Amino acid sequence: MFEKFSVPSDLIPSDPRFGCGPSLVPVEHLQNLAATGASYMGTSHRQGTVKNVVREIQEGLRAYFGLPSGYEVVLGNGGATMLWDMIGLGLVEKSSLHFTCGEFSEKWYKAHKLIPWLSTKQISVEYGHGIEMHEEEGFDFICTTLNETSTGVQNTRVPVMKNAQTLVAMDATSGAGQIKAAVQNVDLYYFSPQKVFASEGGLYVAFMSPKAIERAQRLALDKTRFVPESFKWQHAIEFGRGHQTYNTPSLATLFLLNEQIKRLNKLGQDAVVAQAQRKAAMLYGWAESKPYLSTYVKDIAHRSTAVATIDVDEKFKVDDITKILRKQNVAIDIDGYRKLGRNQLRIALFHNIRHDDLDKLISIISLIIESA
Ligand SMILES: Cc1ncc(COP(=O)(O)O)c(C=O)c1O
Repeated sequence: MFEKFSVPSDLIPSDPRFGCGPSLVPVEHLQNLAATGASYMGTSHRQGTVKNVVREIQEGLRAYFGLPSGYEVVLGNGGATMLWDMIGLGLVEKSSLHFTCGEFSEKWYKAHKLIPWLSTKQISVEYGHGIEMHEEEGFDFICTTLNETSTGVQNTRVPVMKNAQTLVAMDATSGAGQIKAAVQNVDLYYFSPQKVFASEGGLYVAFMSPKAIERAQRLALDKTRFVPESFKWQHAIEFGRGHQTYNTPSLATLFLLNEQIKRLNKLGQDAVVAQAQRKAAMLYGWAESKPYLSTYVKDIAHRSTAVATIDVDEKFKVDDITKILRKQNVAIDIDGYRKLGRNQLRIALFHNIRHDDLDKLISIISLIIESA
């Protein structure tokens, strides 16, 4: 439809990566990694050089999030998807309650549902809506998702549980770092670092409260549960205390994660969050100002400040728009989440994606559509 459109050179963003993950990794961070030469990559993860990077990651995250004392930062291989199994196997006592609002929160629910000794319940809303979590009697574990990447919905409210035995877990994969939630009310706050934290996939990062650590250690004594060695929380906790992971991690992933934590800590979480809010205001303001666009998430309080989902009038095919942008290497990975099946743009607002580049991107998209 728009094959003939040529992007004006003054509107070309400085970096074409606007995707929701793996996300834009600053070239400077890659150069810093390359500059380590023979001193870091290819060295043992059981020795000081790598352990120092892990320690810096743990301390950097503790400072950035202002973690309460007693919380531990645990890292391991597998990413958020593997954690869903690890959580179901080793942290849920008997029953988990899941608040779902899209593909990822549902996948977490489905992972627990397969565990034969657990009972599970799903509370869901229609896609595009946010969900408020609450406590229910009979459930010892609550699962909530900070930023539902598939729909661009954020759920930030975490009340204090009345029952001291109830644990709250939050999948913060695409929101951690730039969407705030009360981590002090969360017992297991976790994310994969290939989003705001601009690293690679395959790793998980989890903050565990003393209650979560106690639960993990107590359930580990239950010999009626079969938990594969690599899924055991006690290994993750023990190795975390020694600034290591249970099995060999990707050293590049750790390095890039640490670079991004240092970058974020220079500003502090409040400033990073405020920058994200300004980008979100620009994107949603644009969507509301154009007759051929509309915001997918109607409730402003639940509109993500990390991933913007914007519906486009069916007359203008998003696939045609993204094709031309990709072909000219102007912007990549802004397609909607496939399974939603909407004529939708999904644009990451992650910290490293510059405000002025987003401004250029939306100007280009407007020009493309208005050229039709
Ligand atoms: C909210 C959310 N949870 C979990 C995942 C799965 O993460 P991973 O692919 O690192 O396992 C994703 C991936 O995009 C996500 O966005």
